[in-house]
Amino acid sequence: MCGIVALIGSREAAPQLLEGLRQLEYRGYDSAGIATIERTATGSGQLHCLRAEGKLINLTNRHAAQGAPGQCGIGHTRWATHGKPEERNAHPHLDGSGLLAVVQNGIIENHRSLREELQAVGVDFRSDTDTEVIPHLVSRRLAELRAGGALASGTLLLQAVQDVLPLLQGAYALAVVWAQVPGALVVARRAAPLLIGLGEGEFLCASDTPALAGFTRTILPMEDGEVALLTPLGIELYDAAGTRVQRTPTLLSGTEHVADKRSFRHFMLKEIHEQPETAALWVARHLPVGGATGPLVALPLDDALLDGLERVQLLACGTSRHAAQVGAYLLEQLAGMPTDVFFASEFRYGPPPLSPHTLTVGVTQSGETADTLAALAMEQERRRAMADPAYAPRLLGITNRPESSLGRLVDAVLDIGAGIEVGVAATKTFLGQLLAFYGLALALAERRGGSINGRSPEALRQLVDQLRLLPEQLRALVADHDRRCEGLAHRFVDTRDVIFLGRGINYPIALEGALKLKEISYIHAEGYPAGEMKHGPIALLDAQVPVVSIAMPGSVFEKVLSNAQEAKARDAQLIGVGPEGPDTEVFDVLLPVPAVDELLSPLLTVIPMQLLSYHIAAHRGLDVDQPRNLAKSVTVE
Ligand code: M6R
Repeated sequence: MCGIVALIGSREAAPQLLEGLRQLEYRGYDSAGIATIERTATGSGQLHCLRAEGKLINLTNRHAAQGAPGQCGIGHTRWATHGKPEERNAHPHLDGSGLLAVVQNGIIENHRSLREELQAVGVDFRSDTDTEVIPHLVSRRLAELRAGGALASGTLLLQAVQDVLPLLQGAYALAVVWAQVPGALVVARRAAPLLIGLGEGEFLCASDTPALAGFTRTILPMEDGEVALLTPLGIELYDAAGTRVQRTPTLLSGTEHVADKRSFRHFMLKEIHEQPETAALWVARHLPVGGATGPLVALPLDDALLDGLERVQLLACGTSRHAAQVGAYLLEQLAGMPTDVFFASEFRYGPPPLSPHTLTVGVTQSGETADTLAALAMEQERRRAMADPAYAPRLLGITNRPESSLGRLVDAVLDIGAGIEVGVAATKTFLGQLLAFYGLALALAERRGGSINGRSPEALRQLVDQLRLLPEQLRALVADHDRRCEGLAHRFVDTRDVIFLGRGINYPIALEGALKLKEISYIHAEGYPAGEMKHGPIALLDAQVPVVSIAMPGSVFEKVLSNAQEAKARDAQLIGVGPEGPDTEVFDVLLPVPAVDELLSPLLTVIPMQLLSYHIAAHRGLDVDQPRNLAKSVTVE
């Protein structure tokens, strides 16, 4: 989704802005732009603005041809919300004089009324965006302040922005430059991320860490409602009330913020291959080797979060919701904990009645998904409003980005530690989320003691022992299915629809298989609980519609095989995901997965789903890492 980069210092800004935008490309965008302020002999400056539709290379070429000098500037990659993805809607947006430029992430919800108000006093709009009201409002405020005798300065720009922010409803991160003060940059955020990177005599602001990684490791994440004035000499940070704030910068950890494709053709393929490592790290961090007596899992959760828990509610979107569905199955079947899964986007507008002693979990790899954050914030608020402490909010986040907005909202975080994921299609973060749920379910099961759903404490310990084998199993599986799925991809050249079937704990994996295929190959795909086929979707089947069926030994194995037979009788091409053996001979093609405890099987069955989608899309020559219309982190509602 949209990305912001802004730089002030003593070197040419444009190359660093373009590099920062390149690091944010993975988030998804459809146009890009930069504006720089060149200091002129008079001491004031000249604004240079370049914008281009489509990929960043178009903007880079324009910069090579026209240049954009100056040591202060702002840049943006836009993912269209208000107005088509055309150059005139690309950021930066300018005021009427062409001296002031703004880039913004998020949505200004009251932009229509602000636009009408400005148009009524003669302001001309050049774009269809919500953002364009901001430069006009700041410019009008600057004119008012200057009419009162104020001189152009960074402080004046700061004040004008501070005065305008209360007029804006919605979520935003923004950066503003003004040709009258070439040595000043003003940035602000509300409900959208923005970080300040501290270099030597220069500052780089960005909406996401990859843009900062090659620049500095010292960062100052801005808090909600904060505004900052940056000059080459330093940072002035203010809270929403206008009070000056002092905060110590933090350090970006490790190299996980650097995006590197290594020798893989696409980031998605590299990230699928990284899953054994994701699992190995999780095992090392969370499964203590304590013999028969130590704790089953080590999780960084306070007792207060889990004591006396009666219910869990999971809020998530897309792939994260599929992980939550597997999680709900585990929490109920392993820990006996009643659990509900919600689409975060639906929860906010129709939440269930409040239940006491409830843990609310936001599941989001990016930690920035607006729907999930809004749903969590709403739940926090309505629970805080209750006098009865039984209803007090208990918020947990499951994320790959503990430093994200989610991390700041919740009481505790389970960091899935998968390292940066660049491919828009989530793969290793999905596995990481699944593992977080295995950890949570085992921890809760252990706290309850005794047998739950026929699983004794000894059986839980055996499950943990099997989890320790996961990295090696994944290593073999990824290598094997990479080859097999590549060989299968040509069969899907003319395919228009695919059905994915699963039952029980593998039903969410069927949903995930269908979502992955849709996202990157643009083939229509649907996931169903296998038993539902006969209630309608079976009407779609014929020889042109492949059916991918997950058939793992356990409580529903025979049922799934029968459902597969029903599809076969309608001439569908059957692709099975399950163990080799006489039972699975019903399938035209088998993507073999070793027989493991049914409860652990999603950790394996997801691999062929990911690789099948990947190879079908790659075979079609599609942009696997940045599929059309999609964004890596969806920061608008
Ligand atoms: O960052 P999140 O996990 O909150 O993202 C939620 C969805 O937008 C995301 O899972 C989306 O469905 C992915 N593109 C899936 O591959």
